[in-house]
Amino acid sequence: MTTDLDTLRGELLAAIDAATALDALEAVRVQALGKQGAITGLLKTLGKLTPEERQEQGPRIHSLREAVTEALASRKAAMEQAALEARLASETVDMTLPVDGVAPGSVHPVSQVMDELAEIFADLGFAVATGPEVEDDWHNFTALNIPETHPARAMHDTFYIAGEHERPMVLRTHTSPVQIRTMTSQKPPIRIIAPGRVYRSDSDATHTPMFHQIEGLVIDKGITLGHLKWTLETFLKAFFERDDIVLRLRPSYFPFTEPSAEVDVGFTWKDGKRVIGGSGDAPGGGWMEVLGSGMVHRRVIEACGLDPEEWQGFAFGTGVDRLAMLKYGMDDLRPFFDGDLRWLKHYGFSALDVPTLSGGVGA
Ligand code: DAH
Repeated sequence: MTTDLDTLRGELLAAIDAATALDALEAVRVQALGKQGAITGLLKTLGKLTPEERQEQGPRIHSLREAVTEALASRKAAMEQAALEARLASETVDMTLPVDGVAPGSVHPVSQVMDELAEIFADLGFAVATGPEVEDDWHNFTALNIPETHPARAMHDTFYIAGEHERPMVLRTHTSPVQIRTMTSQKPPIRIIAPGRVYRSDSDATHTPMFHQIEGLVIDKGITLGHLKWTLETFLKAFFERDDIVLRLRPSYFPFTEPSAEVDVGFTWKDGKRVIGGSGDAPGGGWMEVLGSGMVHRRVIEACGLDPEEWQGFAFGTGVDRLAMLKYGMDDLRPFFDGDLRWLKHYGFSALDVPTLSGGVGA
């Protein structure tokens, strides 16, 4: 019996090794482990043995079955790997070849709008600033006058990063921490915008766990709410490419600004669609919220090591995806992140259509 098992093991392993195609391998499996298979047959004999014999033969047969099962699996994995490598080798794409005919790619509306925003604000003297997407809770919350016990921390549906860190780490819930990073690394006067990805645990037709915001920050001497309003009006006129943009600043609350204002733009209805422009109080018109803003809270200025008696400023923030939807007429946010080529073809922009103020930022 012992030699029988050893011989069988040798034969089966050799057959597995020799198999060069999946069907040959499957034949060996059936021959060994199938209903009528050699090992299956051996297992069936166990019931007829005396307890002593079974104690002796049982482990041997089981170990044979295990060895064969393992050999089959690793041979199969090796074959699949080889097949994959062969396919990869035959499917090379030469990225250095010139584009054949018309470039099929298109610029995503989020990229397009970010370029438009950078262009508009560059013209107003704003630089583009960036910060990390994995942020510590001091920059994301505390320095922005959102202390640990503040309900805004819960409102933000924060994703926390697991593990031990000097400070708790989060996926930034807004672009406002870039205000802090700029004020702590640069001397005023400061004029920046900070576009980028932000994250919140939220998901439906108008919310995705990752979305895009743009932040604006001005720090200088003698800055007033009047500067804020002019800047936003100038920006929105350029962005929507209309002179009849009317703003309404509604008193609101943000921990990092005081006073705070939510900014609405007037719109009218045309063919069942909202068209930005005109007073929202006109007959058939309405107001739509587009931005959060305010005068930078003195505690935020202090947290960054600046003297609030000397330096003041304003800040604003808004969703880039939302701006894109308003300007280009999408009504669902989720397709922005599906990567569906048909959607991109419909809403995307030509790579050659770079937004410029002289040529028009609207593409
Ligand atoms: N950070 C706010 C948010 O995520 C948006 C915002 C509001 C930014 C007011 C600002 C501001 O800079 O002044 O909802």
